[in-house]
Amino acid sequence: MTTNLYSPLIAGELHLANRLVMAPMARRRASPSGAPSEHAPLYYSQRGSGGLVISEGTAPCAFGKGSFGMPGIYNDEQIAGWRKVTDAVHAKGGRIVVQLMHSGRVAHSSRMPGGALPIAPSAIRVSGQVVTAEGMKDYEAPRALGLDEIPGVVEEYAHAARCAIAAGFDGVELHGASGFLPMQFLCSSTNQRVDAYGGAASNRARFTVEVLDAMTKTIGAGRVGIKISPENPHNDISDANPVETFSTLVSAISELKIAYLHMAFAAKAGADYLSLLRPLFKGPFFIGGGLDREKAAALIGEGRADAAVYGVKYLANPDLRERFEHGAPLNEPDKDTFYSQGPKGYIDYPFLSGSA
Ligand SMILES: Cc1cc2nc3c(=O)[nH]c(=O)nc-3n(C[C@H](O)[C@H](O)[C@H](O)COP(=O)(O)O)c2cc1C
Repeated sequence: MTTNLYSPLIAGELHLANRLVMAPMARRRASPSGAPSEHAPLYYSQRGSGGLVISEGTAPCAFGKGSFGMPGIYNDEQIAGWRKVTDAVHAKGGRIVVQLMHSGRVAHSSRMPGGALPIAPSAIRVSGQVVTAEGMKDYEAPRALGLDEIPGVVEEYAHAARCAIAAGFDGVELHGASGFLPMQFLCSSTNQRVDAYGGAASNRARFTVEVLDAMTKTIGAGRVGIKISPENPHNDISDANPVETFSTLVSAISELKIAYLHMAFAAKAGADYLSLLRPLFKGPFFIGGGLDREKAAALIGEGRADAAVYGVKYLANPDLRERFEHGAPLNEPDKDTFYSQGPKGYIDYPFLSGSA
């Protein structure tokens, strides 16, 4: 039988009923304490008929929470809130992992514990402005982490992974893309360290590898994945030699035998990263970014990817799997409600049958 979008997939300990995956998407509706919104159980469970849901970027610690309405997964209140989400998705027969997202320098002191500066590998500020409680402000130069502080940050991720399992998640995905903390260590534009975490690509990849290693030792490699996005300039990030940097990273990650590698295509990239990186990772390879049904079907049918990750289409189509299966038209996304408050544009996208 040929493999298609609807074939089951075993990725580590994750048993997916099909190969449609909901991409991680921030919706900025969490409570100030970092618990998911009251509507989050319904929002996620509506999208539970795919093979896997990846949650919105979720902070592994207080310093990781860079933006308004971002949830966390490091204390009991957050665990209790997420438990309602995971129960709802499981009741629908779905699987869900939490995406652990540490903002690093993409943050502002007004949101940090004690008003401290955000942390990063080097004290290089993001160009542009950030939303704060007092309106738009310039990003600040973050505080460069001391060498002796890095094990503590790595341990915070392991703690969050433990909390994720306590909350009923099937696993965790490390957010290694979009210019957040692991990518700040990885890329040359944001890492000017001269110690074991800076300089050569293998040194710049060290933080990501250590975080993954700590999480695999805590919850098992089969429950850990990672998202990367080579050459995605989001949050003012770039690398002098991305082919070398990402090849080095993926080769090192492959050794850890994690559940999956999730790669999002950047809109503009100078290399064919799917062809380059897929052979370097000996495990399930998820691909996302601008996919439609036909492109995903081709990539999976040809064995070039194992699962297809959909962002905006999943946001607007809770029953994306059913729509794809029937070749039905898709709902259009409403960009104005991506990051707004409340249920509108969150839990009210219509199903094929006409009711949400
Ligand atoms: C509203 C919104 C929020 C997003 N938040 C996250 C996030 O928290 N973590 C992440 O890794 N990517 C995030 N992304 C990127 C998506 O995961 C995905 O990579 C991107 O939308 C491209 O896929 P698509 O073309 O299928 O939408 C977000 C995208 C959107 C539209």
